[in-house]
Amino acid sequence: MIPDADRRIAPGSRPDGADAHDAGRRLRARRRLDRLWRRGAEFLGSGLAVMGGAMTWVSERGLVAAISNGGGFGVIACGSMSPAQLDAEIAATLALTDRPFGVNLITMHPQLQELIDTCAARRVGHVVLAGALPGAAAVTRIKDSGAKLLCFAPALVIARRLVRMGADAIVIEGMEAGGHIGPVATSVLAQEILPHIREVPVFVAGGIGRGEAIVAYLEMGAAGVQLGTRFVCAHESTAHPRFKQAFLRAGARDAVPSAQLDPRFPVIPVRALANLGTQKFLDLQRQVIDRCGRGELSQKDAQLEIEHFWAGALRRAVVEGDVETGSVMAGQSVGMVTREQSTREILDELVEQAVSALMAREADAGGVGERGGRSRAGA
Ligand SMILES: Cc1cc2nc3c(=O)[nH]c(=O)nc-3n(C[C@H](O)[C@H](O)[C@H](O)COP(=O)(O)O)c2cc1C
Repeated sequence: MIPDADRRIAPGSRPDGADAHDAGRRLRARRRLDRLWRRGAEFLGSGLAVMGGAMTWVSERGLVAAISNGGGFGVIACGSMSPAQLDAEIAATLALTDRPFGVNLITMHPQLQELIDTCAARRVGHVVLAGALPGAAAVTRIKDSGAKLLCFAPALVIARRLVRMGADAIVIEGMEAGGHIGPVATSVLAQEILPHIREVPVFVAGGIGRGEAIVAYLEMGAAGVQLGTRFVCAHESTAHPRFKQAFLRAGARDAVPSAQLDPRFPVIPVRALANLGTQKFLDLQRQVIDRCGRGELSQKDAQLEIEHFWAGALRRAVVEGDVETGSVMAGQSVGMVTREQSTREILDELVEQAVSALMAREADAGGVGERGGRSRAGA
């Protein structure tokens, strides 16, 4: 794991004096980071315990392989793919990387069992189940295939249940995240769950855009982290240029949850960039609720109209570049996406920020480590 740290020490340079002191502190900080996320990295089989959160239409072979090749852990988003499409995507990813990666399956997919079998046949090492709580049959099928199972837990009681069911790791994702979200912030979920779930590694997701935040969650007991938004504008992401442009222009406050006008007509909360589609969704809800009130539409049909509004909207935005009426799912960390970069650069930047944060902690701690560093350097 140390070679990543070495990457940042210019080849051939011979640090001496202050430089040597700095290099010593940097190396200690990097070792501390490796200790902090060792459990997560060992679980994933990657150098860095940084998962690239599966993003439907975005997390395909190129980005997934780039994240794994960069030292992180890429995850294919199966979304609505058929088993044959998923099989082709896994095969294409295997051709681009020999590093471990995972597959994210949505529990509501009508062919979930076949998709699990597809992963098993390709010997996928890690399967992430997203969506509703998984049933026992899916859990058993994944575990019988020899894959490690990761599940999302939106509350402590569910995390405990998932561990009892056999989940090998838990992902907690706060409402700062892009895509489908729950009601609780990452910082609160972390405090609710991290002190209590020690049996399996817990990965924290939602709103993480910099290495300092990664360190903070690791110090709270996380085994690793998962980031999605930060990877959308990677060179290796095939998201439409207009989708990427929307990310580059947006600030944290532009990434808003879908609004619900009337509690009788629930809306599944999704965080996305506000656009014309967001406005039209409000108009549609208003019309549908009025028509229902006038008896022109049954409650069930009204609900269906609301649910169907966003069907295919993520694909339209990511693949076709319709960022006006499509769903531009993005997390609040979108404000920290300021330029297109290679995936490796993004990962290096996160590690560098994490290492700097740990170096600052060492300095703040009264320089105990610094004195040690100096005496070892003979100063
Ligand atoms: C465009 C987009 C699509 C996403 N699609 C999925 C998905 O298909 N399955 C899933 O489990 N999570 C999905 N997510 C959530 C990510 O996997 C990840 O957990 C989340 O982005 C982490 O929070 P962040 O956006 O603040 O980094 C999506 C997120 C985005 C931004």
